Amino acid sequence: MDNTSSWPLHGTAPETYEQYIVPAWMGAWTDTLIERAGIRPGDRILDVACGTGVVARRAAQLVGASGSVMGFDADRNMLETARKFADKESLASIEWHFGDVAFIPVETERCDVVICQQGLQFFPEKQKALEEMSRVLVPGGRLALSVWRSIDRCPFFATLAEIIGNYIGAESTRAFYSSCSLSDREELRKLLSNAGFNNIEIRLEVQMARFPSLDEFLPGYISVFPFAHQIAEMAGDKREKMLAEIMNSLLIFSDDCGLATPMESHIITAWKNGSDGQAAPL
Ligand SMILES: C[S@@+](CC[C@H](N)C(=O)[O-])C[C@H]1O[C@@H](n2cnc3c(N)ncnc32)[C@H](O)[C@@H]1O
Repeated sequence: MDNTSSWPLHGTAPETYEQYIVPAWMGAWTDTLIERAGIRPGDRILDVACGTGVVARRAAQLVGASGSVMGFDADRNMLETARKFADKESLASIEWHFGDVAFIPVETERCDVVICQQGLQFFPEKQKALEEMSRVLVPGGRLALSVWRSIDRCPFFATLAEIIGNYIGAESTRAFYSSCSLSDREELRKLLSNAGFNNIEIRLEVQMARFPSLDEFLPGYISVFPFAHQIAEMAGDKREKMLAEIMNSLLIFSDDCGLATPMESHIITAWKNGSDGQAAPL
């Protein structure tokens, strides 16, 4: 029996990310992060761990023709999708670069602003990553990044991780926990300070994630994760039982308008020390 036929795996992971996660929450969080970054026309921007390029595209609209935007990621499929969506929005001037954040392939002091939305917590070498972000910034340049708070402050992730983990093994759902693994403000402050940043501000923000239909959102969202294939290969009745259990548990995260769940993130802004080694003025 073909167990996968009754359960939809949606498109490629990056396309599904754009279709479900960007409208549900990443788009709104992008607005917040971009606002905190204080992007101005003419700025030269690097979007680190750009994924499908939601931040880079928004930044490109703000910097105008006198500025420039680069997106950078370690996943070629993400970058391909980013390029495709940017072309669709006539933002072909964005440059896309592939590589690991421990060695950003961008020349020293090339950027006025570095942005990294929900990337830092996934990097194995966080200190090196921040040192690289500092290296590519001009003296006095600005950094804006975001990381989710702990998983108990993002109950939607916690609910999915627990139920799916019970069915297919906790290891498979580790992505939810690593998303929320860098929430300690003092740890964040120390990492940034050691990388040469000053005027560090760690700001707590809460936003509602929304999507018009929870029924539609759930299989689409799950399709983004590597464990989606394990779910597609489950016996049909077991999968139905698991999905029903998830839907039931997620009802508290819905209202008359569909999915509605609070998410908490730290939004961090900082300045690279000026050329005299002193903190940049606010
Ligand atoms: C949750 S996604 C965030 C994507 C994007 N910033 C957004 O706001 O939608 C995390 C991204 O980090 C990238 N990433 C993870 N480890 C990386 C590394 N070591 N170097 C560069 N990118 C990395 C992944 O490929 C993925 O695109």
